[in-house]
Amino acid sequence: PRLEPVGMCRQCLVEIEGARRLVASCTQRVREGMRVKVYTSQDAVEGRKAVLEFLLINHPLDCPVCDKGGECPLQNQYYFFSSALSRFAEQKRRWPKPIPISENVLLDMERCVLCRRCVRFCDEVAGEPVLEFMNRGWYTQVAPFFGETFESHFSGNTIDLCPVGALTSRSFRFKARVWELTNFPSICPYCACGCNILVGQRVNDIKRVTPGVNEAVNEAWLCDKGRFDYSYTRHEGRLQAPMLRRNGIWEEVSWGEALDFVAQRLKAIVEEHGPGSVAALGSPWCTNEENYLLQRIFRGILGTNNVTTKHDAWRSHGFGSLTFEALERADVFLFFGADVIEELPIAWLRVYKALRRRGARLLLLHPRRLSVERHAALALTYPEGQELRWAQGLALAVLEAKGRHPEVERLRAILQEASEEAGRLREMAEALAQGERVILFAGKEVLHNSEAPHILAMLRTLLDLLGKGEDKDSGLVEFLPYANSRGTLDMGLWPDLLPGRRPLEEAARAAVAEVWGVDLLPAEPGLSFAQLQEAGRA
Ligand code: SF4
Ligand code: SF4
Ligand code: FES
Repeated sequence: PRLEPVGMCRQCLVEIEGARRLVASCTQRVREGMRVKVYTSQDAVEGRKAVLEFLLINHPLDCPVCDKGGECPLQNQYYFFSSALSRFAEQKRRWPKPIPISENVLLDMERCVLCRRCVRFCDEVAGEPVLEFMNRGWYTQVAPFFGETFESHFSGNTIDLCPVGALTSRSFRFKARVWELTNFPSICPYCACGCNILVGQRVNDIKRVTPGVNEAVNEAWLCDKGRFDYSYTRHEGRLQAPMLRRNGIWEEVSWGEALDFVAQRLKAIVEEHGPGSVAALGSPWCTNEENYLLQRIFRGILGTNNVTTKHDAWRSHGFGSLTFEALERADVFLFFGADVIEELPIAWLRVYKALRRRGARLLLLHPRRLSVERHAALALTYPEGQELRWAQGLALAVLEAKGRHPEVERLRAILQEASEEAGRLREMAEALAQGERVILFAGKEVLHNSEAPHILAMLRTLLDLLGKGEDKDSGLVEFLPYANSRGTLDMGLWPDLLPGRRPLEEAARAAVAEVWGVDLLPAEPGLSFAQLQEAGRA
């Protein structure tokens, strides 16, 4: 149901009363009073069996050595019709195997049943149409376009979709049988999309990562980063146990010993040099509980606001209640300093769905040309770091488009004369003004800009000017950079924010101190990671 029905494999042939021939049920819409015979029609059963025999003309049925074995729809069909002996005595089609069509995906063309799912996924779902059927008849082959490789942010999904073992994962190939895996449900640790994953492990080793189905988030897809980048779990440099350096030599110690050591050292340093001499680095890859407790120890016990992460060179309010589903309903998207397919890949799939299925319009404003430009109605580049200026320019152009307070002179000044860009910015403003449900994405370029709060405020003003400030289907999406960046804000793992994102004002400090049962909390904001590094060098 996630691809448009085309009826390629004919393995769903059924008899519908009143129809003159067997039909592929996946292409039919249910109608009132429809009577469908799946197993009770001899014709339908024979029809599916006959098609299966055709599908198996070239298929090797090498299930015992095929990665798909155990979760293969074709294997299931064959078992179901186990009496379907092949009458094909000729030589089957031969291909070199495997054919590496990308860094992650290997093609075993002998197994391909030419269902076109992989081609359609790239085109219909990912918006990266890089695969096609090449050649004709007996020699028809799935392949990237001439001279290209299967470069896509979402190539791994074709492995799941392939109904046979034709597209296989390089990292999982021959590593385990699927029934030997224990699949642990988890959340992808990379970007802030929070895709659901199943971590397939065998004998304490991760063998593969596949999508966990969650219609509200990733549906049934994953980007390639989330799917293939787990080799760090085996990196030999990973800490497996607490260690202490004694006389210059690292030694493994128990947790009790390590924690006692850290507690004593922290206490001694604070007593000697004051609370500002210690700092804690949490992580946007830690859980809320871990980050909360870390900042609580440093604020409530040691008395310092030096709590942050290595990744605090961005600032977002991180608010917004837009769901992934809301993206599908929008009719105008503006990517402002946001490379969505790189920064939040799975969100791109929702945007693309709206572009493809509902004719939504995509507007790009970014310092660089983006790979999704082919899908954009308008694309403009601006000099890096000029986000505030361009957000203001866009807001003025929207005012102008709405015939209110025309400030043409200021707009001109902002864009250094009525250049070609000014004209295109006006077109963009027109498109925004025409949208019913408008979604603005503020990406990395905005959040890493030192003027981020002003730019975000300007974008919110822009939404208000468009009359979308209160519209629940429109909104500003501020990209948070890492898996649990939002949690670091919520838990107060920032030098100037208490849990619940409360600033270090007296009333907030008093309220938190009361909950924690301590006398008072430090008022002075702590140091950012860059400042901590500087202090460390000094
Ligand atoms: S490679 Fe797999 S998904 Fe693609 S056409 Fe062949 S069988 Fe279908
Ligand atoms: S989109 Fe983000 S959360 Fe989803 S799989 Fe990719 S990196 Fe992971
Ligand atoms: S033709 Fe209907 S599932 Fe393939």
